[in-house]
Amino acid sequence: MQMRKSAPILLVTAALLLAAVPPTVHPGDAWMDNRGQQIEAHGGGIIKLGNTWYWFGEDRTQGLDPLKRYVACYSSTDLVHWTFRNQVMKQADPGDLGARFVLERPKVFYNAKTKKFVMYMHIDDSRYALARVGVATSDTVDGDYHYVRSFRPLGQESRDIGQFIDDDGTAYLIFEDRPAHGFHIAKLTADYMDVEKDMSLIRQSLEGGAVVHYKGLYYALGSHLTGWNANPNLYATAKSLEGPWSEFKDIAPPAVNTYGSQSTMLLKVVGSKVTTVIFMGDIWKPRTQWDSRYLWMPVEIGDGNLHLPEPKPFTLDVKTGRTVVLPDAPAAPAK
Ligand code: DGJ
Repeated sequence: MQMRKSAPILLVTAALLLAAVPPTVHPGDAWMDNRGQQIEAHGGGIIKLGNTWYWFGEDRTQGLDPLKRYVACYSSTDLVHWTFRNQVMKQADPGDLGARFVLERPKVFYNAKTKKFVMYMHIDDSRYALARVGVATSDTVDGDYHYVRSFRPLGQESRDIGQFIDDDGTAYLIFEDRPAHGFHIAKLTADYMDVEKDMSLIRQSLEGGAVVHYKGLYYALGSHLTGWNANPNLYATAKSLEGPWSEFKDIAPPAVNTYGSQSTMLLKVVGSKVTTVIFMGDIWKPRTQWDSRYLWMPVEIGDGNLHLPEPKPFTLDVKTGRTVVLPDAPAAPAK
């Protein structure tokens, strides 16, 4: 009798306990969206509007029109469960770039003054010789973005781009400048439609650039120029975006090659208890691009040091900002 009465209570308690367990990120696994399809947001960037994060990236789904390039947008309120919103760009060659033109690393900024969403992307020909950024706009975050133009920011060559929004809301474009053997952190114009001012040209040949502002220091991160192959990513710090920047250091033991990934963004999650910085990297699969994976891991950061730990599943509670790295699953018994 006693058992029967308490059973529903136990069930409810178990359900409540389960609901309270923060969701888990599995670095390197195939991540599925709400449709059960693999998330296609490579070389991506994230913006937060209210309580919702929007993740944009290269959509390299198999079977898409080979004459177009695609950008997908997903949304999430916990950074773990992602809802597909729209294929926000379906771009044919915008000029005379040729059928094998390149549209990579899309990043979206929201301009509160113009109320426009402005997407930057790396636009290039098949030889990566054009070295430009493209700009597209939309009135809504997940609407169809309309291509506006392409140009070389500040007149300089630009290949991989990254985005950084400072705590005061100022928007910056990070772009790799091959002839200068470095990368720029440059402020956007008031309407975000152009690049206005160089804050720094960091003379270290790095791409996949990312910046985070954490406890009074800026941390700038990037990867060496090794195509789709992983390499040891590096970081430097400065008190101001204008520098001076410290020497570059490894974010992980060089031998692990950033655990097979390449930086695309440093995502700051400000919780009620702690602020967590998540390294967002791409595990590229050049021959099966659609199956390229994501390596997200909370970094150990502070006092000028940044360390990417060995990737392991971790729980993420975006309300408190807390993450817990889960222990390795026990090895399967030998047969
Ligand atoms: C490395 C860049 O980071 C990627 O975005 C892409 O452009 C590949 N090179 C192409 O080889």
